[in-house]
Amino acid sequence: MSVFLQSGRSAAIWRIDRRSFVLGAATAATGVISGCSQLTSQPKADIQLVAGAGQARLLRGSQAATAIWAYDGRVPGREIRIRRGQRLRVSVKNRLAQETTVHWHGIRLPNAMDGVPHLTQKPIGAGESFLYDFVAPDAGTYWYHPHHNSSGQVGRGLYGPLIVEEPEPLKVDQDITWLLGDWRLLEDGQISDDFGNMHDSMHAGRIGNTVTINGRPPEPLAVRAGERIRLRLINAANARIFGLEFSGHRPQIIALDGQPAMPHEPVGKLLLGPAMRIDLILDMVGKPGARFVINDTFYKGLEYPLTTIDYQADVLRSELLATPIRLPPNPIPEPQMAQASRHEVLFSGGMSAATPMDMDMMRTGMVWAINGVAASNHVHEPMMRLPRGQTAVLNLNNDTAWWHPIHLHGHSFRVISRNGKPTAHREWQDTVLMPPHEKAEIAFVADNPGNWMFHCHVLEHQAAGMMATIRVA
Ligand code: C2O
Ligand code: CU
Repeated sequence: MSVFLQSGRSAAIWRIDRRSFVLGAATAATGVISGCSQLTSQPKADIQLVAGAGQARLLRGSQAATAIWAYDGRVPGREIRIRRGQRLRVSVKNRLAQETTVHWHGIRLPNAMDGVPHLTQKPIGAGESFLYDFVAPDAGTYWYHPHHNSSGQVGRGLYGPLIVEEPEPLKVDQDITWLLGDWRLLEDGQISDDFGNMHDSMHAGRIGNTVTINGRPPEPLAVRAGERIRLRLINAANARIFGLEFSGHRPQIIALDGQPAMPHEPVGKLLLGPAMRIDLILDMVGKPGARFVINDTFYKGLEYPLTTIDYQADVLRSELLATPIRLPPNPIPEPQMAQASRHEVLFSGGMSAATPMDMDMMRTGMVWAINGVAASNHVHEPMMRLPRGQTAVLNLNNDTAWWHPIHLHGHSFRVISRNGKPTAHREWQDTVLMPPHEKAEIAFVADNPGNWMFHCHVLEHQAAGMMATIRVA
């Protein structure tokens, strides 16, 4: 069911349905006509999110509901939908018993709206509110989550999708968002509260035992023959990496971390590290009544069927759509490689057979480092200072035995090479998944002024030192 409501002069048209909010046509940004001065001087929120306690049915069957933390009591938080270039104002009210913030992962927004406690804003205290107010410059698939006590807050269910639509969305029959979650549940169905423990921190992070899609046990994807689906995958897990295999289908990757990519089939499985997003086009080439499994085969020996694609009895169309699936580019400045400054970034630490763990690191729990520094706080000496407007190339070197999804705030970067080999698609990402002992070169124009976090999105790794800041000025 959809509800349309027209709110006065700002003419915001809200389409509200079960899962999504489309804030239509008018942005109250600058374009709004006279008579709205009040609106612009004291921006009103389009949306309110309340961070607090909630309940979720994460398990099949008669198991008790799980006590979670969530936005508006449900996981995932509501799907926020806006259009490219639109202004979004979200008032976040904190009903948790601890501080929080909201980070709009992947959005190239002004630094003060980035949601990093102490670095870009005072954390939102228990009972307090904060108004986030920014324009989304790029279309794509994003998500929002706290950046304070991230491991505990994200791991208990505080996250939601943020979809920024293209000016002219692709022609598809269904546009589906899957937030993949991973929970560590005890036998009674409640969340194990061993967040940040030393074992997880030193190894692969907090990998759970219960995978959900949109906060529920995965349900089959019901499709009809001939249908075209845009599937937006978002990995909201603390640490779990997904390696998906779609039997019987040939998914086309059309966007990575929100940014358009030349449509291509994945080579091997579809890898989705924590915080990463992949937009797929899936053409339903099967026959009515057929069933296909989507397997997650990332962890050897722990493969499992994530869900199935279930064909209904009827046929939608007998010939597949031939309309283009290439997305229009977003307005990101192109790195100027000839003038680029180059910077070495070394990731070290974690459990390793080769190098015994430093006893000091063990004692303090700070077991990871970037360029030799284990940051325990969001506020620290910047690792790097980049002149505004200039291209920077970062040579990332994962000198550890573990996978790390490395995320930069405030910018998207091109992944230029991996282990010295140019990448096939020079993809734009905001989170690059680095296998053990891999090197990767990323390039971007440092055009967004401010102090930006640069960290591993395995949240236990981040908390144990794997973060830094980059200052653009
Ligand atoms: Cu999705 Cu710094 O985070
Ligand atoms: Cu990591």
